[in-house]
Amino acid sequence: MIKKIITAAMIFIMMTCLQLTAQDFKEKYRPQFHFSPKAHWMNDPNGMVYHNGIYHLFYQYYPDAKVWGPMHWGHATSKDLFTWKEQPIALFPDSLGYIFSGSAVVDAKNTSGFGKDGKVPLVAIFTLHDPVQEKQKTGKHETQGIAYSLDDGKTWTKYKANPVLQNPGISDFRDPKVMWFEPQKKWIMTLATKDRITFYSSPDLKSWTSESNFGADAGAHGGVWECPDLFPIMHNGKKVWVLIVNINPGGPNKGSAGQYFLGDFDGKTFTAYSKETKWLDFGTDNYAAVTFSNTGNRNILLGWMSNWQYANQVPTDPWRSANTIARELGLKTVNKVIYLTSVPVKELDLLKVTSFDLKNVKVKDQLNLTEKANNKTGLFRLDFDLKNAGDFSIVLANKEGNELIVGYDKKANQYYIDRTKSGKSDFEKGFAEKHIAPRISVDANMTISLVADVASVELFADNGLTVMTDIFFPESVMTEFYIKSASGITIDKLKYTVLKASTK
Ligand code: FRU
Repeated sequence: MIKKIITAAMIFIMMTCLQLTAQDFKEKYRPQFHFSPKAHWMNDPNGMVYHNGIYHLFYQYYPDAKVWGPMHWGHATSKDLFTWKEQPIALFPDSLGYIFSGSAVVDAKNTSGFGKDGKVPLVAIFTLHDPVQEKQKTGKHETQGIAYSLDDGKTWTKYKANPVLQNPGISDFRDPKVMWFEPQKKWIMTLATKDRITFYSSPDLKSWTSESNFGADAGAHGGVWECPDLFPIMHNGKKVWVLIVNINPGGPNKGSAGQYFLGDFDGKTFTAYSKETKWLDFGTDNYAAVTFSNTGNRNILLGWMSNWQYANQVPTDPWRSANTIARELGLKTVNKVIYLTSVPVKELDLLKVTSFDLKNVKVKDQLNLTEKANNKTGLFRLDFDLKNAGDFSIVLANKEGNELIVGYDKKANQYYIDRTKSGKSDFEKGFAEKHIAPRISVDANMTISLVADVASVELFADNGLTVMTDIFFPESVMTEFYIKSASGITIDKLKYTVLKASTK
């Protein structure tokens, strides 16, 4: 009898736990296939590295509240870039400061000497931000430190001789992104140093030499430069170096955003083809975006899907912030100018539930696809192609009358996302706005890909030449779906794919 009661009790406890996990991640506004921490505050993605078949995502994390605070590195892992599993916190603040943003590398040649018994070390390189010195206004409160892991990222040991790079007296001196520069067999650190980027080099990740700096007279300067990245992409047989520089504020639609430069890098100096800013994403919600390390020929980028304008106020509970989906980067020439392109990684296909295709779709005024889409969750991917596009809009809506509108304005030759009536917006006065982006492509054929989660849309127009990411907070799931065009358009091919949740 007692045995039976104990078994019943155990089954009850297990069921309750299972139910709790199932209910978990079903809170209002909870992203269903974008990574968000179970609870508390998250900002920038950090230390993204692919190692032994696993993608590691570390992130700026404050485990004690839902607002920014003393920074830790949270940790999550995934095999497919969508199914993320939260892991124990990787790095905690110490006597040298909070653990700000940075990167991680696989030190395959054991240049650092941290490897032991043939175990390849993962090395994290991050900013130590000392709040005491910050108060004293020494201007030297940010230095760079390192830590290593010999168990594939599970646990980390901070280097005892931290910091490895002292501050020369620059108040914003942070967010090291490190890569191996094979031609000269050395590490390169790309560091944001207030209004420019400084490049450092090192043989062993421990001692760093300043090589050059870039950008005081280039690009956008409406805010401080943060979270840079530097990597090459092959384009028509030529190596093109991409320098990403995040900036806050000063983005194209206000607040935080990512700009990039293309050019040459010789192990010492970055020479830009042009000093003009190009934007990685024109939406308001893709910040601190950088790429994974150690992914071979793939360049996979992921950003923090928020904006410092309102990140601390968004109406989510018990967590704050999610990341964008992972994007594959490429290059494309338009009118002799090279641009960076970003499109959803192919792994997004893994989330497909059902799909339908339509051909030669004439839209005059309004095409209501709600019933055909039959999408109760609001998670989808839409792809379509059209020639000689006129004005059109894609409208996501719900029974409360919330509307999120993604569209193209032919006269202005601009794409836009209008979230003015998309739901809750009273937490910040600038939130309910329409955001615009130029159409960069000059192709008569237009391609649109739109990825929608519960509380975000990501637009990849013209195979990723113009990208926009916006978050929004609808009162209920956006189950209604329309394509509208007053002037009329004909869509050659349309594919609508219902996606499934992947986060747990
Ligand atoms: C960018 C940023 C970084 C810094 C981190 C602190 O969002 O300000 O420059 O390292 O966040 O959390």
